Amino acid sequence: MRILVTGGAGFIGSAVVRHLIHETSHEVLNVDRLTYAGNLESVAPVADSPRYRFAQADIGDAAAVRDLLAQFRPDAVMNLAAESHVDRSIDGAGAFVQTNIVGTYVLLEEVRRYWGGLDEAAQGRFRLLHVSTDEVYGALPMPDPEAGPGQAPLFTEASRYQPSSPYAASKAAADHLVQAWHRTYGLPTLLTNCSNNYGPYQFPEKLMPLVILNALAGQPLPVYGDGQQVRDWLYVADHARALVRVLEAGEPGAVYNIGGHNERSNLAVVRSLCRLLDELAPESPGYPHAGLITFVEDRPGHDQRYAIDAGRIERELGWAPAETLDSGLEKTVRWYLDNGEWCRRVQDGAYRRERLGAPASALPGQQPRTPLAE
Ligand SMILES: NC(=O)c1ccc[n+]([C@@H]2O[C@H](COP(=O)([O-])OP(=O)(O)OC[C@H]3O[C@@H](n4cnc5c(N)ncnc54)[C@H](O)[C@@H]3O)[C@@H](O)[C@H]2O)c1
Repeated sequence: MRILVTGGAGFIGSAVVRHLIHETSHEVLNVDRLTYAGNLESVAPVADSPRYRFAQADIGDAAAVRDLLAQFRPDAVMNLAAESHVDRSIDGAGAFVQTNIVGTYVLLEEVRRYWGGLDEAAQGRFRLLHVSTDEVYGALPMPDPEAGPGQAPLFTEASRYQPSSPYAASKAAADHLVQAWHRTYGLPTLLTNCSNNYGPYQFPEKLMPLVILNALAGQPLPVYGDGQQVRDWLYVADHARALVRVLEAGEPGAVYNIGGHNERSNLAVVRSLCRLLDELAPESPGYPHAGLITFVEDRPGHDQRYAIDAGRIERELGWAPAETLDSGLEKTVRWYLDNGEWCRRVQDGAYRRERLGAPASALPGQQPRTPLAE
C-alpha cells in the first residue's frame, strides 16, 4: 500500500512510520507541519529508505492536502496530526480547535474528494484511519476494593463521550466528524481510541521522559496532586502495530479501543522509573532518585482514572500488546540513557533551529507547491 501518514514527525506518528518502513513493504508519505512537537530526528532511522517521503504541510491547508493526495495517490491515510498536550490545551485551546477539529474537517473533505475520484475497486480498498484517545470518554471511578478481580469499570467502544479537558473535547469533536463522514458519505473510515502511550522519542514535557531526564539531572520530579491518578499505559511500538493491524484488517466504520491492561498510578510509575534509574544509572547526581519526588498543585479537571477494554481488537483482529509495563519501562529508560544526544537537541531547541538543513526528500519527478522543508 501507499500510506499517507499525517503527524509522522511526532511521538506516535514517528513510531508508525518507523514500523511501516522497518516491518512492512508499504510506501509512506509523512505529512507534518513540524510544530514544536514535530521532530524529523525521530524518523532519521528511515529517512534514507526509498519507500519513505516527507512533506511539510498543515492538515488544515486544503490546497496543500489536495496536492499531496493527487501527487502521492495513497491507498490509505492515517491521521495522527494533532495538538496533543493537555496542559497546553488548558493554557490556550485555540490551536487545539484549529488542528484537531478544523484540521480534521479539512482532511476529511479533501480525502472524500480524492476518494470520490478513484475507480470502484480502489474506492473499496481505500481506508482513512483516524487516531484518537481514551480521554474522549472522561474519567472512570476508582475500582471498588470490595469488588472481585475483573469487576472494575473499563472504557468500551460504546462508552459515552464525556471529555474533561479542551484537548479531550477537541479530539471528541474530531471523532464525531469522522463517524459522520462515514455514515453520511460512506467514506471508509476507521477510528481508534488508545490509552496513554510511553516509550522512545517522547518529548520531555510528558510524564515519563520528564521524570527520567530530571532525575538524571538531579532535579525535582513533579507529581500532580497526590499522584494517585491511574492511567492504562501502552508501549508506543505496541500502539503502532495495533494501528497498522486496524488499517489492514479493520471493518470500515468501526471503532477499536487500544490499551495495554497496564493500570498504574502516576506515583507508582514515577517510583518504578526511580528504581530502574537507581539500578541502571547509579552514578547519576540524583541517586537515590525517589528522593527527588515533589508533589505539585493538581491540574484543573484532572481525570482520576482511565482504563481500556481492548477486547474487541484482541478478539476480532488478533492484536495483543507485546510489552508488559515493567518490560516497557525498562526499554524506555534504557533508550533515554542511550540517546542523550536526541534529548539534548530537544531540550536546547537545536532540533528546530537546524531544520533548514534537515534532509527532506521530494516526491520523485515532481515539484510540489507545498514546501518540503521549512
Ligand atoms: N501520546 C499519547 O499518549 C496518545 C494516546 C492516545 C492517542 N493519542 C493521539 O495520537 C496522535 C499522535 O499523538 P502524539 O503523542 O504522537 O502527538 P505529538 O504531539 O507528539 O505529535 C503530533 C504531530 O502532529 C504534527 N502536527 C500538529 N499540528 C499539525 C497540523 N496542523 N498539520 C500537520 N501536522 C501537525 C506535529 O508537528 C507533530 O509531529 C494524536 O492524535 C493524539 O491525540 C496520543
